[in-house]
Formats: sequence, structure tokens, C-alpha cells
Amino acid sequence: MLIAASDHRVGRSQIGALVEYQGKFMQKSPFLLNGWYCAGWSEELDRQKIIGRRLLNMPIVIYRADGQAVALHDRCPHRFAPLSKGAVKDGNLVCGYHGLAFSRTGQCVESPFGDRKVPNAAVQAFPVVERDNAIWFWPGDPELADPAAIPEFAGLGDAKGRQGYLNLKANYQLAIDNLMDLSHIEFVHLRTFGGAGCFFEGQHETRKVSDTEIWSLWTMDDVQPPAPARAAFGDQRVNHWQDMCWRAPSNLSFDMGLVPLGLDRSSAPPRMQQAHLLTPETETSTHYFYSKEQQDEPKEFDMLKIAFEEEDAPMMEACQRNMGDNFWAERPVVLATDASAILVRRMLDKMIREQNSD
Ligand code: FES
Ligand SMILES: [Fe+2]
Repeated sequence: MLIAASDHRVGRSQIGALVEYQGKFMQKSPFLLNGWYCAGWSEELDRQKIIGRRLLNMPIVIYRADGQAVALHDRCPHRFAPLSKGAVKDGNLVCGYHGLAFSRTGQCVESPFGDRKVPNAAVQAFPVVERDNAIWFWPGDPELADPAAIPEFAGLGDAKGRQGYLNLKANYQLAIDNLMDLSHIEFVHLRTFGGAGCFFEGQHETRKVSDTEIWSLWTMDDVQPPAPARAAFGDQRVNHWQDMCWRAPSNLSFDMGLVPLGLDRSSAPPRMQQAHLLTPETETSTHYFYSKEQQDEPKEFDMLKIAFEEEDAPMMEACQRNMGDNFWAERPVVLATDASAILVRRMLDKMIREQNSD
């Protein structure tokens, strides 16, 4: 099914105007536009009602009209006030400065001053889909926004799952590197789940399913369990795996587990499955949405929070501060263990180059 914008009722003429608008502002975007990005968690929108957030370097406002999530350019065309400082009234977003009201398609539909003419003005509306506790946003060509292309994530729709958010002061591709090259666990995550030496004994494989789906697979057979699993496994040696899957543009899923020697994965006791949804805020900052399926121990989620916020984030942010804005111009050393991360970079670079050459 294809959808056209925040609302299925957007007409073709409006879509043309929106594309033209986008052409003016986004033709040479450093980000991949035709793709689904997480814009926020549903519970966040339940709480705040209106979210003003920079996504792919554009100010965006998200709210619900008659229960349906809507995303508009967060800039009133009158004096450019952020519409996110306004209010929702009868399904329209009313500017908090002089009261112009905009429908879910972005069209100005009301002026507050008596019978004066409603200005022929509009703001861009973006396709948006709310699914499994997440709000998905499509910054590209509305005609290509297919909700069926939104990836499935284990646990994302689980009412007992947990969600987190981190505002990372680093480019989103540094975060993809971090996730696609988990060898850093041995060094960065010493307070949480690293340091057992599993990765030094493991095998790493990069599996390319398509240009938009790449796996980074770590298989660690006959190793000591990592620290968090010691309570369950003691000193018993285990078969352990950590599988990360990237899907374009920047949505990753993670499956980690371990079993006693001699057993296969299907017999694994509770596994850890996570979603890592990385949405560029600017070229040097990222909305990092993460979630974990429900497991028995709430403290496992607290440990993830420590791992991401106190271990990963400071390292990635320090890397960002230490480099310029062109990764390849820095001539990075390439290691065997970052083969998956490098392949993702090449795929993304290729798609962005093609987009910008159109
Ligand atoms: S700035 Fe929005 S109505 Fe004036
Ligand atoms: Fe990490």
C-alpha cells in the first residue's frame, strides 16, 4: 500500500507542491531521504501531545489529529514561528503566534480575525505511520512511502517492552559503525557486558542480503559467558552469538544469546533482542531510539541504559569531536572486524550519491 502524506486524503496537486518544496530545500541532502526513520515513541506523543524535533536537519512538528499521527514542517509561513509552540484544536494545528490554523495536510484552513480571507498558504506534510509504539517518518518522495517497508522489530510492539532515548552528539553513521562493529564491547563495556574475552575467540562474518540489508554476525563457540550471564551459567563454557542487522537507512536490530555447549540456538534460554533506531538530528547529532523486548529482570534495561549512555555515547561523541565532517577524508584505518560497518557506509554513500545526482 502506498500512502501520500500524513493523510490519505492529500490530493495530487498538493503532493506536487510538497515535492517542489522539498526540491528547493532538500535536493542535496547529506541524508538518504527515501526511507523510514523513527521520529519518536508513541508514549512520548501521548505525554507531550506536540513534539517539535529536528529530523534530518529539518524542524518537524508531530502531533495527533483525530488520533492519527501527523508530521508537518515546524515553521509557520507567516513569521516563521515554530508550530510546535502552538496547540491542536479540532484536529488542526494552530500557530501560537497569530493563530493561523493548519490541517493535517499542511494547508492553512483558518485565520482567527473575523471574515478576513484565509491565506493561500501551506506547510509541508510528511508521510507518517504509527506502529508498534513508534512513530515512523518519511522525509522523501511521498509517492514512494510504503508502510510495508517499515522493518519489523522483535519486542517493539510488546506492551511490556522497554524503550529508551539518547540524544547523541555524533553523526548517525558513527553510531551505525558502533553497532556493526561489536568488537568494541571488549573495551568500551567493561562496566556492563564486556571484558570476558569472548570476541577474541569469536568468528566474525558479514552477510549482505541486499543493498539495504546487511548483517554483522559474531559466533563465539566454547567461550566463557559474559559477566551478566555468570549468575545463570557460572563458569560453564557456552556457545554465544551476537547478531546485528542493519536495514536502510539506519534501523538496526540485535539478537544476542548463549546456550550451554552441545545445545543449539533454538534451545536458548531468554535471549536479548533489541531495536536501535538512529535518526539524524543534524550532521553531528543523532536521535538514538532503543528498545528491548521484555524480560524478567528490569535491571537488564538499566544496564543497557548505562552501556549506551555512559559507555558508548561518550566514546562516539569524543570520536566526533576528534574528526572533521568527511569520514573518508580522514583516511581511517580499516580493520577486518569493521568489514560490516564499512560495507554499510559504502551502501549508504552510494544511495545518497545517487539521490543527489538526480
Ligand atoms: S507566525 Fe504563525 S500566524 Fe504569525
Ligand atoms: Fe556498545
